[in-house]
Amino acid sequence: MNVPITVAHGDGIGPEIMAATLRVLEAAGARIAPEVIEIGERVYARGHSAGIEPSAWESLRRTRVFLKAPITTPQGGGFKSLNVTVRKTLGLYANVRPCTSYHPVVATPHPDVDVVIVRENEEDLYAGIEHRQTDEVVQCLKLVSRPGCEKIIRYAFEYARANGRKKVTCMSKDNIMKLTDGLFHRVFDEVKAEYPEIATNHLIIDIGAARLATRPKDFDVVVTLNLYGDILSDIAAEVTGSVGLGGSANIGDHVAMFEAVHGSAPDIAGEGVANPSGLLLAAVMMLVHIGQGDVAERIHNAWLATLEAGIHTADIHHAQLSSVRAGTAAFADAVIDRLGARPARFAPVRYAAGAPIQVAGRITPTVPAQKALVGVDVFLHWRGAAEALGAQLQGLGGDGLAVQMISNRGVKVWPQGMPETFCTDHWRCRFTAEGATATPAQVLALLGRVGAAGLDFVKTEHLYTFDGVPGFSLGQGQ
Ligand code: NAI
Ligand code: MG
Repeated sequence: MNVPITVAHGDGIGPEIMAATLRVLEAAGARIAPEVIEIGERVYARGHSAGIEPSAWESLRRTRVFLKAPITTPQGGGFKSLNVTVRKTLGLYANVRPCTSYHPVVATPHPDVDVVIVRENEEDLYAGIEHRQTDEVVQCLKLVSRPGCEKIIRYAFEYARANGRKKVTCMSKDNIMKLTDGLFHRVFDEVKAEYPEIATNHLIIDIGAARLATRPKDFDVVVTLNLYGDILSDIAAEVTGSVGLGGSANIGDHVAMFEAVHGSAPDIAGEGVANPSGLLLAAVMMLVHIGQGDVAERIHNAWLATLEAGIHTADIHHAQLSSVRAGTAAFADAVIDRLGARPARFAPVRYAAGAPIQVAGRITPTVPAQKALVGVDVFLHWRGAAEALGAQLQGLGGDGLAVQMISNRGVKVWPQGMPETFCTDHWRCRFTAEGATATPAQVLALLGRVGAAGLDFVKTEHLYTFDGVPGFSLGQGQ
């Protein structure tokens, strides 16, 4: 039975590389029934601000598999990124980007890179919740959830297991962000215990990124939060030296999207010279996802054999290493000619037949903790000296809440601040319960007194303990 998939030909080189890819899929006997939708430039031009039409969503919801060519994102305001829209609307939580160098067949600065970046795709600083709060200060909310961490980390381990990978490295900045990144690291430690056959380690993201750029062969699978993963996946792609060679997958519980890592390359569009490999390898990932590992293996090995034969598109053509400078269609023909062949220099690829990786049903249910309100951080837009603010806020305490400390950009400035600390107009004033706990009514009454005193409060954050453990960080120097 043929599996329906949704296909979009995209813009620029998109139609050329998609045609080449679909030809290879067909010749390899992929059991698929493509359904074509239109996305990108022309859809934007028709007034759909996200570059996709309502009817296209129906197809995606029906097929749940999306093979997508790159599109040209219009410049200027009013347009939304199609990728971000698709990713968020369909809950594509995992971004998977394998990065491999093909030394000595393709010139590369790092001969033995074979790393897969598994990037969390929905949370972290990319939730897009930003506010300007004062004249001087803007903020971006970094949201990290336990189920979100568990999903992506479990996915990384399942991916490693399904693909014969030996090691999963977690990267975070939990020495600084103890609650958010700390949660990610902690969930990693919990989940890894279920995969004893896979080696693991954790690196702080800054040294981790540096090592990935200089010693990429130390890495196998890397799992990390959204922002770090965005940066790491470009570093990893770059160190293989392969602009047109990378495929990627965006995986959700219901739908998965597969695409090349590069864009629509308008500079070479229509010339028939683009490298279709990135999209073809994305299609290979798609075939594995829909349980056609046999076809994926045939295509991937034929593709490796084609590279080995020195049949190279212009982007990777090299006077010493290449024998033929092939156009897009000729390259696809060369892959088709080699279907059934196996590479000689590279180890042949093997894909286990089997079900797609599914972690949805395996996420640990949340057990509500005993949550207690123990105080409130009141943020003020205010100009002046910390001492004066501290004195004024002492007068506003009482009724169960007392001012405990004031910080500015996270650094404690009252009581006993340092005159050297630079202060903006954004003050975090921490009030804590005089008894064991506080009530919402006490917080509201406090805000009433703060407002009546003419102080401009711009937001509050409640201080809770969860089963007695503080759910908030201390001010630096507190
Ligand atoms: P790009 O990846 O399209 O091109 C960068 C350079 O790499 C160009 O010199 C191009 O000719 C070359 N290149 C890219 N893919 C190639 C291939 N398969 N074969 C041979 N050479 C290739 O990035 P750029 O120029 O920054 O963006 C062009 C357009 O693509 C923009 O509108 C951008 O918004 C869009 N874009 C779309 C993406 C998507 O749909 N997923 C991802 C990235 C960019
Ligand atoms: Mg990026």
